Amino acid sequence: MTKTKHPFLAACCLEQTSYTPVWLMRQAGRYMEEYRTLRAQHDFLELCKRPDLAAEITVTPVERLGVDAAILFADILLILEPMGIGLEYSKGDGPVIHRPVRSGKDIDALKNFDPQEELSFVYDAVKKIRIALDNKVPLIGFAGAPFTLASYLIEGGGSRNYIHTKKLFYGAPEAWKRLMERLAKVIAEYLNLQIDAGAEAVQLFDSWAGCLTPGDYEQFAMPYTKAVIDAVTPGVPVIHFTTGTAGSLKNIRSAGGDVIGLDWRVNLDEGWATVGHDVAVQGNLDPVALFASPKEIKARAAEILGRAAGRPGHIFNLGHGVLPETPVDHVVALVDAVHELSTR
Ligand code: CP3
Repeated sequence: MTKTKHPFLAACCLEQTSYTPVWLMRQAGRYMEEYRTLRAQHDFLELCKRPDLAAEITVTPVERLGVDAAILFADILLILEPMGIGLEYSKGDGPVIHRPVRSGKDIDALKNFDPQEELSFVYDAVKKIRIALDNKVPLIGFAGAPFTLASYLIEGGGSRNYIHTKKLFYGAPEAWKRLMERLAKVIAEYLNLQIDAGAEAVQLFDSWAGCLTPGDYEQFAMPYTKAVIDAVTPGVPVIHFTTGTAGSLKNIRSAGGDVIGLDWRVNLDEGWATVGHDVAVQGNLDPVALFASPKEIKARAAEILGRAAGRPGHIFNLGHGVLPETPVDHVVALVDAVHELSTR
């Protein structure tokens, strides 16, 4: 029996689809009442570690929004917890790492761990989600890229200027290299275990790569992202996501990925021309545009679709995640508009 490929997976492979597939980063999250209700009863880490709850949170927005892909409910920082750094999600302040690494000595003291054993709850969630989705839409697994994860490990949380991170690669490039090689190895294993469990595509989030000069990106981030992408199970599409990297797009393309994420700071047609039309692209509505009226949202979706010009290999998404205060109706309006405007 031949099965037709779902539009999302077809677009990852640059195949023509009957409409432009759309999904949204952070489609499962605080802007949804259903999530807030569960969150009021459970700690964030507990939601991630309970496969039944993670599966429910993953599937709810797929049904509510009518998107063309599901993304595993988890977090990029989960992989850091078994290293013994004291990860905590404190209310309001975002994630905190209580014992950040600041030196070669700290890096060498990080625990080695087996991602199969320590993160088994993630693969159990993937299996449950695949059953619940029943092949209606594909499931995307994900991980943080080495640079973005290193920046959390070193800063101890979110950061404005990444001073500790940059000081480490300026002053101790050998220690930086050791850290990044360790991260790349465990990230690749983790992604492949998600794939073994049933993830049909994976996204690598390098959310903070945009804080780097193009030269620093090339030297201190790109080789390790490339090592991860090169090690992903062949045949499974990889989405390579960054933000604020319009000046590094050629290198981002070189690091790899079947799909390159574009944020709203670059016009989609120009970004696509820069990375090359032989690779798919994902993006790139400004997440704040979802606060405009549904009419305005539709006009902006039309503009982006116009720039994609019906070329195969465009996956519609935001340029970054859905913000917590976003009206759900507006998100539904966007998904409907993309489907309506792009039907070929
Ligand atoms: O996209 C999805 O719907 C799937 C789940 C998902 C979460 N985090 C759930 C989450 C994904 C893919 C992520 C990735 C993630 N996590 C990134 C990369 C994407 C990006 O936004 O740049 C980053 C940098 C993180 C780190 C992180 N986790 C931050 C900064 C925060 C707090 C602030 C915020 O944006 O929510 C988290 C917590 C987090 N991760 C929440 C959710 C739903 C909120 C936790 C809560 O309910 O209190």
